[in-house]
Amino acid sequence: MKILILAAGLGKRMKSKYPKVVHNVLGKPMINWVIETAKNLGKVGVVLGYKYEEVKKVILNNVEIFIQNEQLGTGHAVMCAKDFIDENDDLLILYGDVPFITVETLEKLKNEHEIKNNDVTILTAILENPSGYGRIIREGNKIRIVEEKDANDEIKRIKEINTGIYIFKGEFIKKNLANLNNKNAQEEYYLTDIISFSNKVSTVLVEDILEVTGINDKFQLALLEKEMRRRINTKLMLEGVRIIDPENVYIDATVKIGKDSIIYPFTFIEGETVIGEDCIIGPMTRIKDSKIGNNVKIIRSEVEKATIEDNVSVGPFSRLREGTHLKENVKIGNFVETKKSIVGTNSKAQHLTYLGDATIGNNVNIGAGTITCNYDGKNKHPTFIDDNAFIGSNSSLVAPVKIGKNSIIGAGSVITNNVPEDTLALGRARQINKEGWVKTKREENKNADSKK
Ligand code: UD1
Ligand code: CA
Repeated sequence: MKILILAAGLGKRMKSKYPKVVHNVLGKPMINWVIETAKNLGKVGVVLGYKYEEVKKVILNNVEIFIQNEQLGTGHAVMCAKDFIDENDDLLILYGDVPFITVETLEKLKNEHEIKNNDVTILTAILENPSGYGRIIREGNKIRIVEEKDANDEIKRIKEINTGIYIFKGEFIKKNLANLNNKNAQEEYYLTDIISFSNKVSTVLVEDILEVTGINDKFQLALLEKEMRRRINTKLMLEGVRIIDPENVYIDATVKIGKDSIIYPFTFIEGETVIGEDCIIGPMTRIKDSKIGNNVKIIRSEVEKATIEDNVSVGPFSRLREGTHLKENVKIGNFVETKKSIVGTNSKAQHLTYLGDATIGNNVNIGAGTITCNYDGKNKHPTFIDDNAFIGSNSSLVAPVKIGKNSIIGAGSVITNNVPEDTLALGRARQINKEGWVKTKREENKNADSKK
C-alpha cells in the first residue's frame, strides 16, 4: 500500500505564521505523528503547500514530497501527487492535521478493503455534533458524501461523518481524478466526489474519536494534547509507575519509565528519555532526551541529553546539560551546572559549581564554588581531575589543566598549571595577619576626634 498525507492547507485558524502541521503535539511536529504511523504500512508521500519550506525543515526523511501551490481542494491535492499513485497498488489517504490515527485502525480499514475487493473503503465516525464534516449518504450499494456547506437540513441531521481517511484502489482513483470538477459551494475539487463513481465501496466505523479528530486551532491542540497526555500517564501508571497528581505531569509518548519510580507534580519528561526503576523524579523537574538508571533521585532540576547511572542524586536546582555523564553514586547538588563532563563513581559536587568539558575520576570531592574555566574567549579546553582528588572551595581550574590522583587544591586557589599526584596545590596570595592593627586605628581616630 502507498500512503499519501494531505498537508497543504494553511490552517488559518491557528493564527500562526507557521504552517499548521509543524506545530508540536506532545513534543513532536504534528505531521511527523502521521508519517511515523504511515511508515508502518508502506511507502509515504506528502502534499505540502503553504510555506512548505518550513515543513521540509522538520519532516522525517524517506518521504516523497509533492507541492500544491494553490489549495483548490482535497481532490486537487491528490492530483498534485498523481505520479505517486501506483495503478497496481492501494492508496491510503491521511491528513497531516489528524495526528493520533493508529496503525490498528488502519489495518482494520485495509482488511475490509481487501476482503471486499473494494474500489474505496471509507473510515467513518458517528458524532453527536457532526457539523462541519462531510455526511455519509447510502444509496443502494453506492455511497455519496455531501459537505456541510452543500447540505440541506435533512442531510445535516445525519450523524455518520467522513473522517477523510480512505483506501482507494490505485487504478480507480487515478482514472477518476480527471473527472472531478469544482461545481460546489466552496468551488473546490472534492476528493469525496470520486466515491460516488463506484458501487464497490464500504465503510469501517472508527471506535475512538480521538484518532480521527483534527486540529484546527490552538485551543483544540491543547485539548487533544491533554487527552493524549492523560492516556500516556494512565498507561504508565498501569505499568507500575507511580505518578503523584497525573494532571500535572507532562510525559511524551516516546518516554519509557520503569516500575516503582515516582513522578512528582510539575515535571516534564520529554523526547527519547528512558528512566529506570525506583527513581524519584520531581517535583518541578524537566528531563529531555536522557538515559537514567535505577534508584536515581532528580529534584527541581533541568536535565538534557545526559546519561545518569544507578543511585545518583541530582538537585535541587541542578542543571545537567548536553554530554553530562554521571557514574554510579554521584551526587550533584544545588546550583551546580555540568556540560560535556564525565563524573566518576562516588564523586560529589554538592554546591554552586560549574563543570564544563571536565573528566572527573572516582571519589573526587568538588568543593562549593568550584569553576572549571573551560573557555578562553575563543576555544573550549578540557579539565582532568584524577581519582580521590579534593578541590577546595571557591577554586578556579583554568583549563587546559590536570589535577593528579589524591591531590588537594587549597580553597580559593586559581590553578593554571598541572598538579602532580599526592600534591597540595595552593594558588593564592599568602594570608598576612597584622595583629593589633584595628585597635591602633581605633585609638588614632579617637584622638583625632577629641582635638576637634
Ligand atoms: C474534508 C472532507 C470532509 C471530511 C473532512 C474531515 C472533502 C471535500 N471533504 O473536509 O468530507 O468530513 O475532510 O476532516 O474532502 N488539504 C490540502 N489541500 C487542499 C485542501 C485540503 O492539502 O487543497 C488538506 C488540508 O491541509 C487538511 C486536509 O486536506 O489536512 C483536509 O482539509 P480540510 O479543509 O480540513 O477538510 P475539508 O475539505 O473541509
Ligand atoms: Ca476546506
